Amino acid sequence: MKNLAFPDNFLWGGAIAANQIEGAWNIDGKGISVADIATYKPNLDVKDYVAHMAVTCEGVMAAISDPSDKNYPKRRGIDFYHRYKEDLALFAEMGFKTLRLSIAWTRLFPTGEELTPNPEGVEFYKNVFKEMKRLAIEPIVTLSHYEMPVALSIKYNGWVKRSVIDDFVRFSTVCFDQFGAYVKYWLTFNEIDSIYRHPFTTAGIIPDKCKDGQLEQDIYQALHHQFVASALVTKIAREKIADCKIGCMLTKLTTYPLTCKPEDVELALQKTLDNYFYADVQIKGEYPKLTLANLKQKGIDIMFEEGDKQLLKQNTVDFLSFSYYMSKAESTNPDADRIPGNTIIGVKNPYLKSTEWGWQIDPKGLKISLIELYDRYNIPMMIVENGIGAVDKLEGGTVHDHYRIEYFKEHFKQMKEAIDEGVELIAYTSWAPIDLVSASTSQMSKRYGFIYVDQDDEGNGTLARYKKESFYWYKKVIETNGKAI
Ligand code: BG6
Repeated sequence: MKNLAFPDNFLWGGAIAANQIEGAWNIDGKGISVADIATYKPNLDVKDYVAHMAVTCEGVMAAISDPSDKNYPKRRGIDFYHRYKEDLALFAEMGFKTLRLSIAWTRLFPTGEELTPNPEGVEFYKNVFKEMKRLAIEPIVTLSHYEMPVALSIKYNGWVKRSVIDDFVRFSTVCFDQFGAYVKYWLTFNEIDSIYRHPFTTAGIIPDKCKDGQLEQDIYQALHHQFVASALVTKIAREKIADCKIGCMLTKLTTYPLTCKPEDVELALQKTLDNYFYADVQIKGEYPKLTLANLKQKGIDIMFEEGDKQLLKQNTVDFLSFSYYMSKAESTNPDADRIPGNTIIGVKNPYLKSTEWGWQIDPKGLKISLIELYDRYNIPMMIVENGIGAVDKLEGGTVHDHYRIEYFKEHFKQMKEAIDEGVELIAYTSWAPIDLVSASTSQMSKRYGFIYVDQDDEGNGTLARYKKESFYWYKKVIETNGKAI
């Protein structure tokens, strides 16, 4: 078979999110986001992935009145706010063609309801984009990455309220007006599917604000509002930025039946369809009929306003982006071993190894995902998150992270195979090119980077940056456009 490998203009790079790197949570006019009140959870257990993240009104109010960053590591990040030039220079040294990053809504609109943006916030991102342009790094920007204003959460229960669409449209419009000259690729919502497991992080929903028994109904209504907002801003971006490309973003939850028992296969199929639903709406422009039937059966009735259906249909996205960390199995056996993972829990697959955090490593699953998704949607794709969280040891100014190199190497081989078989993959951004604060546990010690950051879980350290062995390896991969895997 002819080996086509990576296309010439393939976008190699890395992905980060504002709330996990910037720090500077309360300076230069920034407001408090839902991420700024996420607490340190080093021993996150499987069961915590099922509970709707134990967020309560009382807890939220206590957190926002606490001025310290002691229990809230995302308030500290890795001080990218002040060190972005140094960090971008390191990415450029690795040869990055692209960097995926997000814009903190609260840096532009502290409570979400201001009518004009905070000029200091606008200036910060403009400076970041100017520097990226100077370094020839193409930005891929996520508008919403788990960091909505907490004020909208308290006042409206987040996205449950339809008027939050207007606030998001105002924020996005400012982003297009101010940064459109620098940014061509935009993603609307990070892992929009995670709303079901993490309604507060994803959509600002505080469960005890929902009427009794209404949480699930509210989650789907909030999701509908996000779909509408996504379509609206897609439309606006196209009016404002001539050559822009808009993508949706999915957590690819590749699911295998644990056995070939038909009931296991049926369950795995159901989970797979549940996962597709979120991309279907944004790519095909309508809710899948089976999903609607399923929701009806559960007694969930999503309120569509006049014009919603048409809006979704007319403003579908240009490309599909997704995160891929792991796969999971499913089984109808209630005693099957459960494993944690990104945004979900699943059943342990006996054929796979796990990371120190229990996420199962499955490079072949990445190829399977690429094939499944491309066959279903037939549009260009980007892998915008993939990587391994590990405990790294700094020794003599570097980290000998052969396990990380191994992880990427095996995943890149599978990407290459998928491309050879016809998949249109246009970008790959690792999560994350530099150590940052973990989304789920708020640990620094769950390290993903090619660059080590000297900071521990309590915030002690010099914040100095060190190149790991994987830094040089990834540089070579990019230099040779994937030949030196
Ligand atoms: C994804 C998120 O779900 O997983 C990222 O989009 C996150 O924000 C990444 O950091 C890895 O998860 P964690 O919990 O290990 O940081």
